[in-house]
Amino acid sequence: GHAEGIVIAIDGPSGSGKSSTAKGVARARELRYLDTGAMYRAMTWWMLHQGIDANDAAAVAEASSRPVITMGTDPAAPTVDVDGTDVAAAIRTQEVTTNVSAVSAVPEVRERLVALQRETIARARREASGIVVEGRDITTVVAPDAPVKIFLTASAEARADRRSKEVETDDVAATQADLARRDQLDSSRAASPLTQTEDALELETSNLTLDEVIAIVVKLADEAVGAV
Ligand code: DC
Repeated sequence: GHAEGIVIAIDGPSGSGKSSTAKGVARARELRYLDTGAMYRAMTWWMLHQGIDANDAAAVAEASSRPVITMGTDPAAPTVDVDGTDVAAAIRTQEVTTNVSAVSAVPEVRERLVALQRETIARARREASGIVVEGRDITTVVAPDAPVKIFLTASAEARADRRSKEVETDDVAATQADLARRDQLDSSRAASPLTQTEDALELETSNLTLDEVIAIVVKLADEAVGAV
C-alpha cells in the first residue's frame, strides 16, 4: 500500500482567518478541507428548525443524535447538508451565530461531531493526499497527532475588521463585541474549550496577507511530508 495522507490541524478564534487559510492550503496541495465550525452551525440550525431551545442543554443532548450532517470536502466547493437539505447559507444567519456557542458546549453534541470529524479525516487519509481541518479543538482533541498543528491569532481589531467585511456590515464595534462574546463562551466552556497548546505553532496574522499565511502553512506541510 501507499503512504497515508497528511493532516493539517488549524485552530483559532473567530475572524483569525482560519477558513480562508485552510481552504487556500487545501487547494494549493490538492487536499480535502473540513470546516468543523460549519458542523456545529449545522447542528444548531437543525435544533432551531425543530423548535428546540438551544439553551436547554438536556433537550439539545437528547436530540443531538437525530440530524444527519453530511460535509462535502472539496475546498473549491465545500458543502453542508442536514438530512439531505443544503444549509450552507442558512447556517450563516445571525440567529445561528447567536446560538452556536450554547449548542457546541453540550458534550453529547461534541462527541457525535468529533466522531464524524475523525471518520472524515480517516477517509481523506486513505482516499486522498490528506486533509486540512479547521476549528477550535482540532490540535487538542480531534487530531492531536497531526504532523502540522497551527494556532492562528490576530488582534481583536483585525478580526472584527475582517468579520465585518464578511458579513457586510459597517458596524465594526458591534462586530467586535459579538466576537468577544463568542470567544469568551468558546474559551471558557467545560467541554473542549478553545485552548492554545505548546506544540501548536502560533501564527499572528494581523500584519500578514492571506497569501503570506497560506505560503507559511504550505511550507510547513511540505516539510512534514518530506520528513515522513
Ligand atoms: O468557526 P465558526 O465561527 O464558524 O464556528 C462556530 C462556532 O462553533 C464557534 O462559536 C465555536 C464552535 N466550534 C467549536 O466549538 N468547535 C470547533 N471545532 C469548531 C467550532
